[in-house]
Amino acid sequence: HGTSRSNDLGHLEIGGVDTVQLREQFGTPLYVYDVALIRERANSFLQAFKKRGIKAQVAYASKAFSCVAMVQLAKELDLSLDVVSGGELHTALVAGFPVEKIHFHGNNKSVFEIEMAVEAGIGCFVVDNFYEIELLREAAKKYQKTVSVLLRITPGVEAHTHDYISTGQEDSKFGFDLISGQAEEAIVRVSDDDAFEMLGLHCHIGSQIFETTGFTMAVEKIFSYLAEWKTKLNYVPKVVNLGGGFGIRYIEGDTPLPVSQYIDATIDAVEEQSAKLGIDIPEIWIEPGRSLVGDAGTTLYTIGSEKEIPEVRHYLSVDGGMTDNLRPALYQAKYEAMIANRSNESSQETYSIAGKCCESGDMLIWDIALPFAKHGDLLAVSCTGAYGYSMSNNYNRIPRPAVVFVENGDPTLVVKRETYKDIVQLDLQLSGKGLSK
Ligand code: LLP
Repeated sequence: HGTSRSNDLGHLEIGGVDTVQLREQFGTPLYVYDVALIRERANSFLQAFKKRGIKAQVAYASKAFSCVAMVQLAKELDLSLDVVSGGELHTALVAGFPVEKIHFHGNNKSVFEIEMAVEAGIGCFVVDNFYEIELLREAAKKYQKTVSVLLRITPGVEAHTHDYISTGQEDSKFGFDLISGQAEEAIVRVSDDDAFEMLGLHCHIGSQIFETTGFTMAVEKIFSYLAEWKTKLNYVPKVVNLGGGFGIRYIEGDTPLPVSQYIDATIDAVEEQSAKLGIDIPEIWIEPGRSLVGDAGTTLYTIGSEKEIPEVRHYLSVDGGMTDNLRPALYQAKYEAMIANRSNESSQETYSIAGKCCESGDMLIWDIALPFAKHGDLLAVSCTGAYGYSMSNNYNRIPRPAVVFVENGDPTLVVKRETYKDIVQLDLQLSGKGLSK
C-alpha cells in the first residue's frame, strides 16, 4: 500500500527508498513514514468537506504520533492540531504551528498547562469538566483574554470497529453527561460568562471504527438535545466536533471505509438534523489520528535469535518489541510483516515474532507466514505509524528508535535514535555522603 513496493533487488522500498539502505544508514529498529501517504490522507479528509461546501477543521490528533517534524507536516497540510498535554502543546509551539488552529483536550489539564495555552493564545479548549471551567475562568482573567471553548459531551454512543452501542448513559471519565443535565449546566455556565466564547460541542465515540452508524447516531443524539436547548436556552452551536476514530487496515480482514464515506455520512446527518431544527449548518470539525499516520508507518527490525519447538512454535526475535510497539502487549493488537530484504519470496514457514524485552508478553506477532528467515534478515512490520512511537518507552532501559520520513527517494531523519547517554541523562549519582537515614 502507499508507495511501498518490491524493487529490482527484491527489497521492500518505501517512498522510493530501499529499506535495506535505510538500515545501513540509520540502523534498526527504525520507524519509517511514507510522507506521500500522509499527504494523501490529509487531502482526502479536507476534500471530503470542501466538495460538500462545509466549513470544517480537520485536526490531527497528535497523540497518535507527535514530534516537531510531524507537527510541521500537519501545518504544511493545512490541518489543525489536537493536543492533550503540555508536552504535546510545547511540541506544537516549538514546531511553529499556528496557535489559532490548536485545540487543547484532556480530562485533567493542570493550571500550568492551562496558563501555558491561554498565554500562547490557542484556538480553543475542549472543556471536559466543571473544575476546568473554573480554572479557565481564572486564567482568562489573569491573561485578560477571552477563551474559546468546545464542551465535550458523552453522547452515550460507543463505537469500536463493527460494534456500536447506544448506552444512553456513558460511564466514562471524559466529558459532560447528557442524561443527568451536566451538559446543559455547562452550556449555561460558559455562555453566561464574558471570559468565554462558546464555540460549540464535542464528542468522541471511539477508535478504529469501520462503520458510519456510530457517527450518525452521535449526531442524532446531540441534535435531540439541541432541540431542547434551542427552545429552553436559545442555544445554537457554531461548531460540532465529532472527534476521531476512523479505522485503518492493520491486517487482512480489517475493512475500513474510504475517508469520504465517513465524512459524507456525517455531513448528511448534520445537514438533515440542522434542517429539522431550522438552524444553519454548523461547522463540522473532526480529529483523526490513526487514519492520518497509522498505515504510513512501518517499523524495520533486524532478526536475531530463533527458537524452534518442534510441532509447537518457531520464534524469531527482533531487536525491538514492546518498547517501540506496546499495542500487541497492551491490546492484543494484530500486525502483518514481511522479510524486507527478500520481499519477492513467497511464504514457506510459520513464525512468531518476539521482542527482546524481559517479559513473555513481549510478542509482536503470533503465527505469521513468512519466507524462510534467519538472523540478519530485515523484518518490516507495517501499519505502526499510530500509537507506536508515541507510546514507546524505555523498559529494560532500551533506547527509543529513530524516526525517518521518506518521500520521492529521499530519507529525512526527523527523530534521532536515543543513546545510552540519553538513558541515564536524568539520573543522579548517589553522592559520597550516601542516603540520609
Ligand atoms: N479525539 C479524541 C478526543 C480522542 O480521544 C482520540 C483518541 C482521537 C481524537 C483520535 O482517535 P483516532 O483517530 O486516532 O482513533 N492508544 C490507542 C488509541 C487511543 C485513542 C485515544 N483517543 C491505540 O493504540 O489503539
